[in-house]
Amino acid sequence: MSDDLCILVLDEGTTSTRVILYSAAGDVLAIAQEELTQYYPSPGLVEHDAAEIWERTLRCARAMVERAGGPSRIAGIGVTNQRETVVAWDRQSGDPVTRAIVWQDRRTDEQCRALRDAGHEAAIQKTTGLLLDPYFSASKMAWILRNVPEAAALGDRLAFGTVESWLVWKLTGGLHISDVSNASRTSLFPLVGSTWDDGLCDLFGVPRSALPEVVPSAGAFGRTLPDMFGAPIAITGLAGDQQAATIGQGCFAKGEAKATLGTGAFILSNMGITPPLSTHRLLGTVLCELDGVRTYALEGSVFAAGSVIKWLRDSLGMLSSSAESETLARSVPDSAGVVFVPALSGLGAPYWQPEARASVTGLTFAASRAHIARAALESIAHVFHDLARAYAADGAGWEVLRLDGGMSANDWLAQDIANVLGLRCERPTDVETTARGAAILAAIGADLFPDLNAARSFVSRTDVFEPRMGEVERGERLVAWRAAIGMPRD
Ligand code: G3P
Repeated sequence: MSDDLCILVLDEGTTSTRVILYSAAGDVLAIAQEELTQYYPSPGLVEHDAAEIWERTLRCARAMVERAGGPSRIAGIGVTNQRETVVAWDRQSGDPVTRAIVWQDRRTDEQCRALRDAGHEAAIQKTTGLLLDPYFSASKMAWILRNVPEAAALGDRLAFGTVESWLVWKLTGGLHISDVSNASRTSLFPLVGSTWDDGLCDLFGVPRSALPEVVPSAGAFGRTLPDMFGAPIAITGLAGDQQAATIGQGCFAKGEAKATLGTGAFILSNMGITPPLSTHRLLGTVLCELDGVRTYALEGSVFAAGSVIKWLRDSLGMLSSSAESETLARSVPDSAGVVFVPALSGLGAPYWQPEARASVTGLTFAASRAHIARAALESIAHVFHDLARAYAADGAGWEVLRLDGGMSANDWLAQDIANVLGLRCERPTDVETTARGAAILAAIGADLFPDLNAARSFVSRTDVFEPRMGEVERGERLVAWRAAIGMPRD
């Protein structure tokens, strides 16, 4: 790979847009970041302004292209994104027709329940790897068509896409594509096959004409409009953020697993080239497709992780900073019986209870904010423990779990996860593996590397957390957790 060239990554998280410039050697040269406005119109509803996502991304990208020394220094752009979130726009004006419905949004619970009651879940899972839950894109698209007259009135002018699809459209001035990993989160795309499933489009009520063309994870997809950055830049890598993080963690071999602690927490384990079918409420999903070979992952999606700490900080004013959660957790020997169930947007894997609501139980006058903060952090290891059992029962137990994402910088939390799982955990020196994975894909798409293994130099070294908790303490924690979440004792 030429030392002069850089890779530009657009990393569209749930709470911020970030643009990162990588050197040819995989070093982070510069970062630009802007927060995204979160709209919560009523309980269970979460929306974004797609125009804001685009404007903030473009501003950050322009700053980074300038920092690189101009568009000619950039070998390729990688885009990675919060998955499942649906943007609807008018192909003629290029403007969104309504707010984007975010992956956390639960408004389509009833539609999903009706489909489940009508017996459709098994067939949907067999085809797409996914369960019936408002989390996925299809029911959100159908909701827009039924409830936003401006969208329905557009007919063939209406375009749907996840966030990477929206950004590529804006960057190129009209290319409507989505990569396989994002497509595999819609409930409309089969694990095996190259285009949308007509039966599923009909079942959910989503017109094929509104959907993008599905493309692999790396390649010469298109070029940015000439005047956007001064000269066109090739878009060469696309992936959903959790799949990108799996690649950024170097989970290239079957059985290798990672957990990204971001807004939510998402565990993905590389399952090789055979489409997985979970019998324990995990998701089968596409990890990536390179050189015509599709690789799959088994996923455990946890809807609230960093968002719980943000909520304690911003909505309740209980923390002065996110980092204070670690100081508070360390300041007490245990949670004093307090148990936090982090169902602020329902519960994802392995429980799948969209209607569940968060709770804090076990409070006494002895409980302080330190105990509540500690209980909130402890809940992550508890959910991971239930996921570990589901993976093992599916025959895909972990030998090591690789942690990453902003929240994994919390050493107390990383150690607690290792303790409760009774498993060695590793954490890379650069925890921003999502962007790193997108950089790897973009470098492959720009022909700077032939394949994933050749890009291994991009994967950073790791710190290690070995389990250090006795069986009795672990057992007590899990008994209290099961009681709080309404699960039977072992
Ligand atoms: O599936 C939702 C996921 O992609 C969101 O990721 O990084 O915003 O927690 P993040």
